[in-house]
Amino acid sequence: MYKTHTCGEVGVDLIGQEVTLAGWVHRLRHHGGMLFLDLRDRFGLVQVIVDERQQPETFELLKRVRAEWVLQIRGRVERRPPGTENLAWSSGLVEVLAQNVQVLNPSRPLPFPLEERTGKHDETVRLKYRYLDLRRPRLQRNLELRHRVLLYIRNYLSQRGFLEIETPMLFKATPEGARDYLVPSRLYPGHFYALPQSPQQLKQLLMVAGIERYFQIARCFRDEDPRGDRQPEFTQLDLEMAFVEREDILDTIESLFTEMIPVVAPHKQILISPWPRLSYREALLRYGTDKPDLRFGLEIKEASFFEQTRFPPFRAALEQGGSIHYLLVPNMSEWSHARRAELEAVIREHSFIPFSLLRVADGWTGSPLSQQMTTKESEQLSIESGAKPGDGCILVAGESVAASSALGQARLWLRDTFQLAPINVLAFVWIVDFPMFEWDAAEQRWKAAHHPFTRPRVQSSSEELERDPQNVLADSYDLVCNGYELASGSIRIHESELQRRVFRVLGLSEEEIERKFGHMLEAFSYGAPPHGGIAPGIDRLIMLLADEPNIREVIAFPKNSAARDLMADAPSPVDEEQLQELHLKIAETSSNIQ
Ligand code: AMO
Repeated sequence: MYKTHTCGEVGVDLIGQEVTLAGWVHRLRHHGGMLFLDLRDRFGLVQVIVDERQQPETFELLKRVRAEWVLQIRGRVERRPPGTENLAWSSGLVEVLAQNVQVLNPSRPLPFPLEERTGKHDETVRLKYRYLDLRRPRLQRNLELRHRVLLYIRNYLSQRGFLEIETPMLFKATPEGARDYLVPSRLYPGHFYALPQSPQQLKQLLMVAGIERYFQIARCFRDEDPRGDRQPEFTQLDLEMAFVEREDILDTIESLFTEMIPVVAPHKQILISPWPRLSYREALLRYGTDKPDLRFGLEIKEASFFEQTRFPPFRAALEQGGSIHYLLVPNMSEWSHARRAELEAVIREHSFIPFSLLRVADGWTGSPLSQQMTTKESEQLSIESGAKPGDGCILVAGESVAASSALGQARLWLRDTFQLAPINVLAFVWIVDFPMFEWDAAEQRWKAAHHPFTRPRVQSSSEELERDPQNVLADSYDLVCNGYELASGSIRIHESELQRRVFRVLGLSEEEIERKFGHMLEAFSYGAPPHGGIAPGIDRLIMLLADEPNIREVIAFPKNSAARDLMADAPSPVDEEQLQELHLKIAETSSNIQ
């Protein structure tokens, strides 16, 4: 037996007993004729001591040993002398007096130290030696949290009649707005599978199959540039239900998360329950984004009381159909000039001219605007903004969504500069009533705002779809938390005819519809039930629960920001023979590998 106990398990109840431990040398210190060795395994740390006089051979052997060697240690558990306890460790009241030490495997010096306090290490080195990076307690905690979340979800949904069903990785293109990863077929020259961007089509087909309640911890693949919250390969809790309306899906996820979070991440507090809902348009106007961070206030407001304004830039904007929007800036009087310029620069970046005003006892000062405001405008701004003397307001005029979006960026700048968002708070919000289609100016065609299987909210006649795509709302919803899009979903189309119409609006020819989605349309013609679903991103959820700034920290083996696996060096070229088998020829090779 390699070990009778884990390092974390050794405690006062074992005093006087002999234990066998195995793990890694975390740290070694010599104190005259005494040697102190911290042994680490996944479950904790324990201090092992060797007395040169009592164990001369073991003492000699350990002189060769270095950090990260793998040892097996047999010894007796003893109480630490008073004053030497370490309450940060579960084993901190005791130590193990070594009787016998076996070296199970030596280790070369590590390319970077594992200790957190040594600061940030080069990400490239960390990813190349990911198996060493993963020895760090922080990453082990993240993987453990991930495991607990997945286990909770599986148990919770199983108890509610959901079946976890695996769907294929080798499939056909399932559009979610990114490029596909393609897999060439050896048996069918010139033919390709696509790795699923999500199991969207398959979960809908499972509804046609009568499964009614499906979920899967599903791996998804999207060939898009990685970002802090985006990886080419990621995991979704993919979920679908038949005979449901929007409320059923929202309630399922809200109940699951509300019950799970206190269990898996008790230090996190859900800010508002039940979770608020905002329409897409409201979110854009009040927060300047469809991913609002509700952990702090500072909502964007419209200054409709400026409708008679004499101020030329505002007058011009109003005459062109625009409006005036503002953001309260607390304590702006205390700011340096440079800081105010920085905030204004954020807005200028979005091609808007900011006008900053400062509230004083009897009105507003600052920018030329203050001189041209009427008493009524000045009073209205004071009342509606809620500004106290010393606070400021920043105003912009223009098309309402674009102007709000510029102020939305300013709002985030304020959050980051003044740490306005409390840690350990989760502010969930549902965003509903998205548009069904978005105009793609580059391609001159309508695109699905969510995906093409989303149900339009037009109840009366689906002809409206083709007549006025711009104003059709979708029966879709997003879950946003602390400014991140955590989940997306929708009620789906289950009628072949309506689905065909949507494809037509998206500019697909009859031939393309058949070739790409004929199997879906056919399936819908065999008694497809009404159905809908959602897919929360697991990596993003863990990132939020673990307070990690980057999704890479919660994935065991992530890709770097250039979509490469630095540890295994992938992607990499393959043998000519393999290419031939796959009927492939490389037209040109690019040398931009970083
Ligand atoms: P969507 O494409 O919005 O919807 O994805 C759902 C959720 O998956 C997460 N996510 C990602 N996480 C990490 N890296 C990525 N590249 C990435 N892309 C998406 C996000 C996102 O909210 N089939 C639909 C769902 C449905 O309609 O049921 C879908 O995939 O958290």
